[in-house]
Amino acid sequence: MATILAARGYADIVLIDIVEGLPQGKALDIAEAAPWTRTSSKIVGTNDWADTANSDVVVITSGVARKPGMTREDLLGTNAGIVRSVVGSAAKASPNAVLVIFANPMDAMCHVALEASGFPANRVVGQGGMLDSTRYRTFISMATGASVKDVAAWVLGGHTEATMVPIVSNATVGGVPLTQLLPADQLAAVVARTQRGGAEIVDLLKTGSAFVAPAVATIEMVDAILLDEQRIVPCCAYLQGEFGVTDGYVGVPVILGKGGIQKIFEIPVSADEAAAIKVAGDAVKELVAATPKG
Ligand code: 2OP
Repeated sequence: MATILAARGYADIVLIDIVEGLPQGKALDIAEAAPWTRTSSKIVGTNDWADTANSDVVVITSGVARKPGMTREDLLGTNAGIVRSVVGSAAKASPNAVLVIFANPMDAMCHVALEASGFPANRVVGQGGMLDSTRYRTFISMATGASVKDVAAWVLGGHTEATMVPIVSNATVGGVPLTQLLPADQLAAVVARTQRGGAEIVDLLKTGSAFVAPAVATIEMVDAILLDEQRIVPCCAYLQGEFGVTDGYVGVPVILGKGGIQKIFEIPVSADEAAAIKVAGDAVKELVAATPKG
């Protein structure tokens, strides 16, 4: 993520980790690539939160990744403690930042981050829908043979296999409804592969989870916030009645720009999809209730 973001050239980057030398080494390696990545962005590594002071955006990737056979929910106990402590330090150092949460189980970790930061909910946003939609668009492209550039499709709901809701009703390829392009069985296979997208990579790598697609999907969010692009993108947001979910985080379309989430964007979806988003919201609340308290 840092390598690709640095190449964008519009932001300075600080990498922080508790392991001494690791962020410094990574940052130096990326900095040394600058003559060829042709960036003037500054990048440093540190173990001291003071060096991150007054950041505009903080991306929280801390926490352990799952191993084959594990669900994202299995990480709840371990990652809640890590996210609580990291977000507490990040918020103190950068009280005006937008926090982008990408530790798993992500939707529940947004609640932990909201509480630990004390920030308003529009400045605590989860990354999940952007990655899942990236995968969904790729699988639609593979199934239809169309360029991925012409596929418009969103995944809403939760960032877990059980709660992910790839939206079929408004997915299009070059403006043509996806339902007209793929027979029902192929469509169902694309949806199922999307829901297992993260696990498919974990099963192949065996020692960790995906890197590149999560990185670029997160950078799209960082771009939207720092460049105030006001993108309409799927993010995990705190809802107060939208999509039938009250006082809870779940993935929905939002307008993302300066200051974080500027608006929840309520798009029409089918009745089944709307019901599935509500079920996802309820499932996140159950995970939150099961989260060990600090
Ligand atoms: C994924 O889906 C790590 O949850 C992340 O790859």
